[in-house]
Amino acid sequence: MNVMCGIVGVTGNENAVEMLMNGLRRLEYRGYDSAGIYVNDQNGKDYLVKEKGRVADLAKAIGEDVHGSTGIAHTRWATHGQPSVANAHPQVSADGRFYLVHNGVIENYIELRDKYLQDVTFKSETDTEVVVQLIDYFVKHDNLTTLEAFRKVLYLVGDSSYGFLLMDREEPDTLFVAKNKSPLLVGVGNGFNVVCSDAIAMLNYTHDFIEMQDGEIMILTPEKVDIEDEEGHHITRLPFHVSMDASEADKGTYPHYMLKEIDDQPTVMRKLAQTYFNDDGQVTIDDELLADLQSADRLYIVAAGTSYHAGLVGERLFERLAAVPTEAHVSSEFAYNSPILSKHPFFIFLSQSGETADSREVLTEVNAKGYHSLTITNVQNSTLSREATYTMLLNAGPEIAVASTKAYTAQIAVEAIIAKALGEATQQVAAADFDLRPQLGLVANGIQALVDQKERFEAVAKDNFVDQRDAFYIGRGIDYAVSLEASLKLKEITYIHSEGVAAGELKHGPIALIESGTPVIGIITQERTASLTRSNLAETAARGSHIMTIVTKSLAKAHDDIILEDVDEMLTPLLTIIPAQLISYYTSLLKGLDVDKPRNLAKSVTVQ
Ligand code: F6R
Repeated sequence: MNVMCGIVGVTGNENAVEMLMNGLRRLEYRGYDSAGIYVNDQNGKDYLVKEKGRVADLAKAIGEDVHGSTGIAHTRWATHGQPSVANAHPQVSADGRFYLVHNGVIENYIELRDKYLQDVTFKSETDTEVVVQLIDYFVKHDNLTTLEAFRKVLYLVGDSSYGFLLMDREEPDTLFVAKNKSPLLVGVGNGFNVVCSDAIAMLNYTHDFIEMQDGEIMILTPEKVDIEDEEGHHITRLPFHVSMDASEADKGTYPHYMLKEIDDQPTVMRKLAQTYFNDDGQVTIDDELLADLQSADRLYIVAAGTSYHAGLVGERLFERLAAVPTEAHVSSEFAYNSPILSKHPFFIFLSQSGETADSREVLTEVNAKGYHSLTITNVQNSTLSREATYTMLLNAGPEIAVASTKAYTAQIAVEAIIAKALGEATQQVAAADFDLRPQLGLVANGIQALVDQKERFEAVAKDNFVDQRDAFYIGRGIDYAVSLEASLKLKEITYIHSEGVAAGELKHGPIALIESGTPVIGIITQERTASLTRSNLAETAARGSHIMTIVTKSLAKAHDDIILEDVDEMLTPLLTIIPAQLISYYTSLLKGLDVDKPRNLAKSVTVQ
């Protein structure tokens, strides 16, 4: 099973191998434990190369003579079945006629295997091999064409999740493409066509992409793209233009994407101030969205991971600025344990990728019930964006490092923008007094001042984190929300056990974990709770912890460690997270870990 992989295909280009390999490199953030490629040269020669490990390992394994003009490739993030050459994709039918790459999970593959394929000897442990063998079976057994067999298998796998690219040696310039609950885009070139999990993979070759809907089949040849719906009816759909430059997805002279993305944050703040404010300094969001928000009696923010942490900050922003009750929820919980909803709910989905399956599960239900929703995302035309009533873009530029940084701060800034617009529309004094545009400028400067002190954070990482087993971030209110995110950043790229704790909760249990030298970092930006958090820090110090503070200038005291520029109390998460991002980055680096691609993780989690 392969759930968050990157897939790419090309038909009709002599440089297919280079295009596929470049595409895989750009998709590696989606999975990186094994990779493979199949190409056909249209003259009866074809090549299958698979390798355990990174795309770079596959590149080494591809010999000089591997060439072709049509092909498919895959980079994998395994859930079931070890990463291995046998389990890597493409998977092949028994007689070597059909080649398939897959992103998703076929839920009923065991039943299908037992029903139809008892005579087949399987070479891998993958659900994908069952699919490719089934296609072969229906072509031979029921005399179906490849397209008919493909359609039949799609019917049999039901509501499983998949992005499939299929090749048939007997139609070597054709790609058969289908998707369900898994992202895929078709790119239109001049004399060639491509398909990929994310437009970033193919931006060097085309900027014109055709959206693909669940249940459709696309048949790509060098000259054309045929689209068929579930019943086989032809559909016409025009391409849309992606204006992003391919170089935006490069890390340039930076050693890692994560460092570049941390450094991008001041620019992102300024860009959001430009995008969502008019020349008179008025906040501007879509009128219909604003009307919908005004008629809601409660906002439900639904998201996962870092985006959920941004939602926790949003909860406070909406309540304070717009006086509307707001709840942030983890999407995987909400989907199956949803709370009793208010009479007029409005849903806000936060998702960097716009593809997170857990969040999409909730959105599907929200749509089925006829409620309105907004997706705040970094990816234009992503699934959550297409399926929600409204979209607001983060405009943060591609985020490639698995650990999310600039999407988090951009999400909070966009939440603040909406909260201000809504609060102003409902005449809230707090919103009128909240001078957001100049504040975003101060935030940008404050972030810049922090990212300019990299050596300092590297020293903190070296002296206080590298050799630790555990670490704690603590805070109250909005500072607690940031503690959760700070702690997630640390654990996911340094593998240090870390927790974000509500400062007042320490004494109710977690303080038992404090040992001599355990780092406890207090985040202190709220006047009302500053002295309480300081007392909680002192309580851990009395038990041997090594305490550090991240404090805004106006609340700082003589022995504080990291002092931040003053910004509005509601916007401090945009600054307090930056030291935590940099400390995590340098700790990971000093431990010799793969900062951008931490173990066991992948970006864009397209399975529940
Ligand atoms: C952590 C991280 C994840 C994502 C989560 C949701 O650094 O990136 O926790 O935030 O998988 O992803 P999106 O925002 O794409 O829905």
